[in-house]
Amino acid sequence: MTERTFSILKPDATERNLTGAVNAVIEAAGLRIVGQRRIHMSQAQAEKFYEVHKERPFFGELVEFMTRSPVVVQVLEGDNAVARYREVMGATNPANADEGTIRKLFAQSVGENTVHGSDSAENAAIEIAQFFTDADIVG
Ligand code: PPS
Repeated sequence: MTERTFSILKPDATERNLTGAVNAVIEAAGLRIVGQRRIHMSQAQAEKFYEVHKERPFFGELVEFMTRSPVVVQVLEGDNAVARYREVMGATNPANADEGTIRKLFAQSVGENTVHGSDSAENAAIEIAQFFTDADIVG
C-alpha cells in the first residue's frame, strides 16, 4: 500500500551538515522524497507541532531545540511509508536504536535525535498539511 509520511531532519542534522547523509539512508530504504523544504521553525510553529506533548517535562527544551537552527521538512512516499520510516529512524533514544538506523548512525541523545517521523497515517496527513500545500508535493 503506497502511503505518505511526514519527516523532519532536525537542527542537529542541519548543524552538522548531515542532511544528505540522512537522505541517502531514507532513499536506500526505498522511500521517495516527494516534498522537501528547508525552513527555520518559529516558536509558534514548533509549539503547535508538538502541542500533544505540551504537558511533558521536556516540552520547553524540545521547542527550544527545534527552533535553534534550520530544519528540513519532508514528505516521504512508499509502501507502508509510516511504519517503514519509523523502522528506518530507529528508537527515540539512540541508545536503544538498532544498527543501521538513522538514530543509531547519527543521533546524539534522546533530545537531539536527528529525525522526526509521523506515528500514524492520520497524524501524517495532519502534519503534512501544516507545512505543505498539494502543489509542493510531486510524486
Ligand atoms: S514517540 O516517538 O512519540 O513515541 O516518542 P516520545 O518519547 O513520546 O517523544 C516525543 C517527542 O519528544 C522528544 N523527546 C524529548 N525531547 C527532549 N528531551 C527529552 N528528554 C525528550 N524525550 C523525548 C522525542 O524526540 C520526540 O520527538 P519527535 O520529533 O516526535 O520524534
